[in-house]
Amino acid sequence: MQDKLQQFRQEVLDSLKSVKDINSLRGLETKYLGRKGELTRFLRGIAKLEGEKRKVIGKLANGIKNELLEKFKELRDSFEGTTREEGVIDVTLPGKKIEQGHLHPITTVLNELEDLFTAMGFMVLDGPELESDYYNFKALNIPEFHPARDIQDTFYVKPPLTPPSQEGKSNEKSDLLMRTHTSPMQVRAMQKYGAPLKCVVPGRVFRHEATDACHDSTFYNLEGLMIGEDIAITHLISVIKEIFVGIFKKEVKIRVRPGYFPFVEPGLEVDMRCMICGGKGCPSCKNKGWIEMIGAGLVHPKVIEYGGIDPKKYGGFAFGLGVDRLAMMRYGINDIRLFHSGDLRFLEQFLSHTT
Ligand code: FA5
Repeated sequence: MQDKLQQFRQEVLDSLKSVKDINSLRGLETKYLGRKGELTRFLRGIAKLEGEKRKVIGKLANGIKNELLEKFKELRDSFEGTTREEGVIDVTLPGKKIEQGHLHPITTVLNELEDLFTAMGFMVLDGPELESDYYNFKALNIPEFHPARDIQDTFYVKPPLTPPSQEGKSNEKSDLLMRTHTSPMQVRAMQKYGAPLKCVVPGRVFRHEATDACHDSTFYNLEGLMIGEDIAITHLISVIKEIFVGIFKKEVKIRVRPGYFPFVEPGLEVDMRCMICGGKGCPSCKNKGWIEMIGAGLVHPKVIEYGGIDPKKYGGFAFGLGVDRLAMMRYGINDIRLFHSGDLRFLEQFLSHTT
């Protein structure tokens, strides 16, 4: 047995001398050291030996095995090194699968919304996520201590230049906050572009609130604003209808009811028949059968004034659409929190939806 092992060792070492490329090396490795290879057969035979003999031969076999493994590794490294250094490409190697990325379902819906609005002549604007109290609240007719602030609590951010000696000492509230809606862009856009004006502002918004199947603490809004002469609620309703037809490509059931926002007068809210339960009631719509999609109204004269435009001459409509909820209804997703879960099992379902 010892002689056979030594012969086997010599045979392997001799064969290695004539190996010229990595493929023949792999072939030899399988032949001699593979699961069904010669060495494995030897090792199985050793298991049947008895006592001291098994110990001695086992030790020898293991030594030879380690030596040969090392030899194969050395040669493999040198072939791979050569391949890299000399730029030789082994075309017989199996190719590496390139993972294909795709758009997030919310991005797809946002892109479609932008297309819809640009087709209607709206500009697409971008606004800051870190906003000032002024644009997020005051310029929208929500003064400090107004109860409407309670329903949009948010994360206040310390100004970056607070001297360390003052940190934690001042009772003064920071003027910077993570925007709670995209509405601050109404005043910013009016100040920059004047009247007449048609724009939409997609973007992330942030609220300090408990989450559930249709509420998240970070979600997307799409603000719409149209300023001009003789703008009426009928214009607003027809634009809203365009959104639903454009996204769902069919008539969907919506309902309009009064809603209160200090920056519009009158204000309204638009609900959509829940597509998860077909209107029967489920956790996604809080058992109402309807899910709130849009807050809207005619822009309050005070807000138009903050925008630097004459409210006696110009009026307009504005709306804020919940993009995540729209995507939920579009794709039949029953929990809004899945969008930001980072769960690949969820995301990979949207590979074919990339546009
Ligand atoms: C607003 O944010 C107003 N800025 C909308 C507006 C704009 C009114 C212009 C008038 C004029 P609201 O808080 O209702 O309103 O939010 C707008 C939409 O965002 C809601 O209709 C809903 O679809 C969605 N939404 C609200 N809260 C959440 C949340 N926590 N998670 C996910 N989506 C939400």
